[in-house]
Formats: sequence, structure tokens, C-alpha cells
Amino acid sequence: MAKRFFDLFDNDEGDEVTGTLNGKRVIVTGALGGIGIEVIKKLNELGARIYALDLLPAKQGESILLENNVKNARYFEIDIKKEDQIQQFIAKVDADLPESCVALAGIVRSGNLVEQNSDDIRAVIETNLTSQILLTQHLLKAWIQQSIQGNIVYVSSWVDSVPWPGITSYTSSKAGLVALCRGVARENAKYGIRANLIAPGIVDVGMAAKQWRDEPDYKKRASRAIPLGRLQKPEEVASGIAFLLSDAALYMTGSRLLMDGGASLYPLDPEDVE
Ligand SMILES: NC(=O)c1ccc[n+]([C@@H]2O[C@H](COP(=O)([O-])OP(=O)(O)OC[C@H]3O[C@@H](n4cnc5c(N)ncnc54)[C@H](O)[C@@H]3O)[C@@H](O)[C@H]2O)c1
Repeated sequence: MAKRFFDLFDNDEGDEVTGTLNGKRVIVTGALGGIGIEVIKKLNELGARIYALDLLPAKQGESILLENNVKNARYFEIDIKKEDQIQQFIAKVDADLPESCVALAGIVRSGNLVEQNSDDIRAVIETNLTSQILLTQHLLKAWIQQSIQGNIVYVSSWVDSVPWPGITSYTSSKAGLVALCRGVARENAKYGIRANLIAPGIVDVGMAAKQWRDEPDYKKRASRAIPLGRLQKPEEVASGIAFLLSDAALYMTGSRLLMDGGASLYPLDPEDVE
């Protein structure tokens, strides 16, 4: 008999975990990024089995999981821009197809639209929107074929509905993700398949964290733009995602969970963002 995918997990420690995600199987794209690592750590802590997807080669990806003590996970080197890689991944895990997916992989290219080159614009739309649509389509086909009541969590941003200057191609891609989420929810509710979206604020990772730490001017501007006056911890984004994956969110579909420290509560003064 063919070996089921879960037989390939050689570490069963996760079985002893009793958490709100116990028994759930979750695909996480962009799993090795600043937010991704905190997401997989949280999901692991709550008992989920994680299929971690990212761009790094397998060996590197696996050692990052180990370093972060994420035991109940498998790593897959997948470029979500490559449709054939998505299809091969789904075929590979077909016997234990996860019922949940966190579509977290994303990129940003900064610059006002008039100054941006078309390669950057295309890369942002392709990664943040086109790839998400195709990944969704392939998952939906597999879920419907296997009668799995799947659950997708998209990761947008508070700027999906706030025109923060200098990232218009990014904000366009994230606004598209909101439409994707609602369309998927509407079309597939009849199969019991759900789709929701989380819109985080400015998260304390990568560029923003560095600028907050090293550039007093950035810190002044950003804290004026965030009513709660601080950057968002990646663990807080992870908690929001864990909630949307949990049974506490079973009656939610097509929803946008805004977690932005109040950043979108009022229009920004030009001096806050220039
Ligand atoms: N950092 C923030 O302030 C913030 C705020 C709101 C929303 N977000 C969103 O959260 C998500 C994660 O952001 P982050 O700050 O952790 O960024 P990050 O750059 O640290 O992580 C993104 C991860 O996605 C992976 N990735 C990129 N392109 C890929 C592809 N084609 N295939 C597979 N993996 C790919 C990268 O390798 C990386 O590990 C993004 O969608 C981003 O738009 C971030």
C-alpha cells in the first residue's frame, strides 16, 4: 500500500499537544519569513500539523524549522509563482491533503507608481495576487474532489483599503486579495469551504522593525500613524491567524479581520507619511 503522507512525519511529539488546532493540517506559504516563523511556531504550539512552503532549498528550510523548534512540520521548497510546482505539491500530499491553508507569502516593492518599473509592478501582482488565485483554484479542485470542507486564510494588510503612498502596486494587490477572498467564500460555501482574510497593521519585522529601531524620524511618523503607538508583534498576527483556523471561527466566511492597532481609523495627515 502507498505510504500515506503523514507516515512520513517521523516525530510524533505533536500528537501529545492538546490545543485549539489539534488534528488540523495546515499549509503555510511564506512560512520562513518574519511573520511566517511566528505563525508556524504558534500553529505548532496549538497542535497543528504544518506543511511549510517557502523559496529556500529543502536543507536550509528544514534546519530553520529545527532551530525554531517547530517539530510537527514538513518543509517544501515551492515557488508559488510556478503553477506546476503548486500542482506537484498538491499531488504529493494528496493522500493527506490539508484542510487549511494560510496564504502568507507576499512581497513588497516600494516607490511611487510613476517611478516604479514594470518588472517590480508585475512581480508584486504576480506574487501577491495571481499566484494566490491559482493556488486557491488548485486547492479548491482537490478539496471538492475529496469532499473536504477546506478553509483558506489570506493575509492582506490594513493598506488594502488605505492609500498609503509609495506602495500603490502592493496596496492594489492586497485589495485584489480581499475581492478574491469574498468571491471564493461566495462561490464555495455550498461545499462547506470557507475563506477569510486577516489585515495586519505595521508589523515589527524586517524593514519596518529596522527603521523603527534605527531611524528616529520613521519612528515618530509611524507612531503618529498608529493610534496604539507601537508596531504590531508578529505573534499578534499569528494569534489572529490561529483564531481564523480554529473552530471558534467556523461560522465566519468572506470576513476581513482587521488587526492594525487602529491605523486605519482616521485619514493620515500628509506629514505622517511623506
Ligand atoms: N511586515 C508587515 O508589516 C506586514 C504587514 C501587513 C501584511 N504583511 C503581509 O504578511 C506577509 C508576510 O510578510 P513578512 O513581513 O513576513 O515578509 P517576509 O519578506 O519576511 O516574508 C515573506 C516570505 O514569503 C516568501 N516568498 C516570497 N515570494 C515567494 C514565492 N514566490 N513563493 C514562495 N514563497 C515566497 C519569502 O521567501 C519570505 O520567506 C506578506 O503577505 C505581507 O504582505 C506584512
